[in-house]
Amino acid sequence: MKIAIIGSGNVGSVLGRRLAQAGHTICFASRTPTSSKLAALVATAPDRCSAALVGEAAQSAEVVIYAAPYDQAESILSSVVDFHGSVLIDCTNPLNATFDGLQLGHTESAGERLAQWAPTARVVKAFNTTSVATMADPQYNGHVATQFYCGDDAIAKQTVADLIKQLGMEPVDAGPLRNARYLEATAMLYIHLAIRGGWGGNCALKMLKR
Ligand SMILES: NC(=O)c1ccc[n+]([C@@H]2O[C@H](COP(=O)([O-])OP(=O)(O)OC[C@H]3O[C@@H](n4cnc5c(N)ncnc54)[C@H](OP(=O)(O)O)[C@@H]3O)[C@@H](O)[C@H]2O)c1
Repeated sequence: MKIAIIGSGNVGSVLGRRLAQAGHTICFASRTPTSSKLAALVATAPDRCSAALVGEAAQSAEVVIYAAPYDQAESILSSVVDFHGSVLIDCTNPLNATFDGLQLGHTESAGERLAQWAPTARVVKAFNTTSVATMADPQYNGHVATQFYCGDDAIAKQTVADLIKQLGMEPVDAGPLRNARYLEATAMLYIHLAIRGGWGGNCALKMLKR
C-alpha cells in the first residue's frame, strides 16, 4: 500500500519505519524533503521509503497519515488540492500550550475538524491514544496494546484496522468520527499519567473482555 506520512517527527518516523518493515511503500511528506534529517529517515529502508513535499506525497497515496501538530493541520491539509478519497489517519491531540488540557472537546474534536479541512479524504482517528514507545514496540509481557480508532467510512476503518494489526496492536473500533471527542479526552488522561503521573511512555491502554 502507498502511504504518505505528513510529519517526520516522533510519530511519523516510527510509524514510517515500522510500516516500511511491514512491506508498505512510504513517502515522508515534509517541509524539508531534501534535508539530512529526511535523508537519514529514508536511508532506514531506501527501497521502500522516499521524501517529498506534502502536495506531491499526498497525490498518489492510498493512505495519508497526519502526524504533525494539530495547530498546523488546517493550513497543511488545506494545501492539498484533492485527496482523491484516500484514507486520512488523524494522529493528533489538540493539546493546549502547557500540555495539561485540550483546546476543544465535548461538542467537537480535532478529528472532526480535520475532516472539514480535508473534505476529499476519508478521515479515521487512530494512534492518538498511544505513545511513540508503544508504536515502536506494542508488546507488554505477553499482552499487546489496544489501538482505538473511529471514523464514518466502514472501508476506510477496515484499512486502518488492518494496518494496526500489521503493527502488532489490537484494533478496537470506537465508533463514528464524532467519538474522536472521547479518544482525544482519553489521550489527555494518558498524557497526564505519562508526564505528571510518573508512568512514562512505556505503558499502554488495554481493553479487557470476558
Ligand atoms: N509524541 C507522541 O507520543 C504522540 C502520540 C500520539 C499522538 N501524537 C500526536 O502526533 C502528532 C505528531 O507528534 P510528534 O510527537 O511526532 O511531533 P513532532 O516530533 O514535533 O513532529 C511533528 C512533525 O510535524 C511536521 N511539521 C509540519 N509543520 C510543522 C510546524 N509548523 N511545526 C512543527 N512541526 C511541523 C514536522 O515534520 P517536517 O519537519 O518533516 O515537516 C515535524 O517533525 C501531534 O499532533 C501529536 O499530538 C503524539
